[in-house]
Amino acid sequence: MTNSQRKILVTSALPYANGPIHLGHMLEYIQTDIWSRYQKLRGHECHYICADDAHGTPIMLKAQQMGITPEEMIAQVQKEHEQDFADFNIQFDNFHSTHSDENRELASDIYLKLRDGGYIKTKTISQLYDPEKEMFLPDRFVKGTCPKCKSEDQYGDNCDNCGATYSTTDLINPYSVVSGATPVMKDSEHFFFDLPAFETMLGEWLSSGSLQPEIANKLREWFDQGLQQWDISRDAPYFGFEIPEQPGKFFYVWLDAPIGYMGSFKNLCDKRDDLNFDEYWNKDSSTELYHFIGKDIVNFHGLFWPAMLDGAGVRKPTSVFAHGYVTVNGAKMSKSKGTFIKARTYLDNLNPEYLRYYYAAKLNSRVDDLDLNLEDFAQRVNSDLVGKLVNLASRTAGFISKRFEGKLAKINDMSLTEAFLAKQDLIADLYETREFGKAMREIMALADMANAYVADAAPWQLIKDEAKQEEAHQVCSNALNLFRILVTYLKPVLPQLAEKVESFLQLTLTWDNLNQDLAGHEIAKFKALMQRIEMKSIEAIIEASTENLQVAETKAPKAEQVQTELEKEPLAPEITFDDFAKVDLRIALIAKAEHIEKANKLLRLELDLGGETKQVFAGIKSAYAPEDLIGKHTVMVANLAPRKMKFGESEGMVLAAGPGGKDIWILEPHAGAKPGMRVM
Ligand code: 2FM
Ligand code: ZN
Repeated sequence: MTNSQRKILVTSALPYANGPIHLGHMLEYIQTDIWSRYQKLRGHECHYICADDAHGTPIMLKAQQMGITPEEMIAQVQKEHEQDFADFNIQFDNFHSTHSDENRELASDIYLKLRDGGYIKTKTISQLYDPEKEMFLPDRFVKGTCPKCKSEDQYGDNCDNCGATYSTTDLINPYSVVSGATPVMKDSEHFFFDLPAFETMLGEWLSSGSLQPEIANKLREWFDQGLQQWDISRDAPYFGFEIPEQPGKFFYVWLDAPIGYMGSFKNLCDKRDDLNFDEYWNKDSSTELYHFIGKDIVNFHGLFWPAMLDGAGVRKPTSVFAHGYVTVNGAKMSKSKGTFIKARTYLDNLNPEYLRYYYAAKLNSRVDDLDLNLEDFAQRVNSDLVGKLVNLASRTAGFISKRFEGKLAKINDMSLTEAFLAKQDLIADLYETREFGKAMREIMALADMANAYVADAAPWQLIKDEAKQEEAHQVCSNALNLFRILVTYLKPVLPQLAEKVESFLQLTLTWDNLNQDLAGHEIAKFKALMQRIEMKSIEAIIEASTENLQVAETKAPKAEQVQTELEKEPLAPEITFDDFAKVDLRIALIAKAEHIEKANKLLRLELDLGGETKQVFAGIKSAYAPEDLIGKHTVMVANLAPRKMKFGESEGMVLAAGPGGKDIWILEPHAGAKPGMRVM
């Protein structure tokens, strides 16, 4: 490897902004973070870029379900994601959102270049449509009875019960998961990206040798089956960016998601004077660009994305690094077994560096799945990090402070130090090539050597002998110097530990300083660096992650099983009291209630707050006759921004529960509550 400074842009896949980060996600962020920290440690200019992936139908519907706007939801989720990453010591240089001005501009720009280059085609296609919700339905939003085994509530494309695959139109009694309505087929014009036009370029990219062999082979399979036109548009309603000059048509989330890498970097460049966006993205850029991703999204990154970039005259990735899935205790992460572990649940119970180390110890450059065996995890961390690494310092540091005024001796036998330093190129190369497991084994083999040396020399015996003080000083100084080298080697994996060691040794751990001479150097008093993992912390994680069995069972496709209300709609993310206090709930008297001509679902209500009247359109027509409501008290959200509706302005909301249809129940206070009273 040459030591001249490289300019590197590195990314992890953008997490969807509608759910929490879990330990499956964390593998990729930890892998990328280690690699990027390693590059920085070597003095390269490396920028680690990420963002939330904020668009698409599931995000739009989830926000609706929560009764908030998609913008509000993605802002809230992004905050949680960023906190989780920060607490795992993931050092992004920028974390942004695909729902940003930068991304909108870049996506439009790339699209227009593709369009003007003749790479965008249109075609009318027929798709399932929810007539009640007035929206097209992605496959996973249609369920029905399996045409083969007749099991109910099966997804649009395959049966969980018998494993049959079929087309959504073959489902018996199909229904929309969104509204329950029977879907109909409806035509619409879509925009397609002309992937086949990039066949030659993609063929060369696949044989260029820059991809992992497994990935190149997988991509080649798709390639050999014949590249297809790629549908990049979705019809309104959709949460995303509207396509330039095409009202009502939106970019499919996967069109603007990878452009989000650029958007996030643009956002960083705008904040910094020393970074030039074009230097990294121009067609002939000499900088390097790497995408760390999971094996499930290699087609987007290995085919569509390079083709899009090529068509728009932008640089292509240097490489794409795919990893496998995380299993826990040998099986797919499972909510009923408590092995679907959220990042936050882990962080509430354990030090993030344990997981960083364990993942590092098991990672390689291939696409293999990685098993997080919780018992092995505890054993490995306790034995390697606590037993071998930290122990080296804890057994020797005290003597330096107590007996030798905190100063290290000049070491007269450098043979171990030399053996340690001789491994630096190998370890560097293993980091560079993402063979982290091998790197950890090399480092732990050195730690074993150092521990054997200390055990053999037994400074705790030497120190008791007046004549052997000098020798004890030598041994402890030697051990701490070896410890320093080990922690420098581990710094990309254990940044927090490295920081503590830096303040303990009172120096900065850098690769360039590996062969520093510490003779006479003063160190600080040793403080505990890391605790052992107790099995009870792991049990607490499993317990906190276990959804009760009924939840798991009701998810299975059996018609008779009844879901609890909380299963149908899980609790929304926690809010603070201040968040709640923003909502002004008031007792209201229903002064008037009436039908509205041509409205199928709404009633018009006049709500008296004891001095002020508000007009509210409430979707309760299917459940209430107006005359049954007049004169009753209810609870309303009184400070909701007025909303223009088809029939007039709605100035609030009445509170009601229930799934819809006849089953809607509005809230009514106990007798005595007066109009205008605040509900708290
Ligand atoms: O699969 C996913 O979770 C996507 N949100 C990844 C997007 S990566 C990039 F293309 F934006
Ligand atoms: Zn079936």
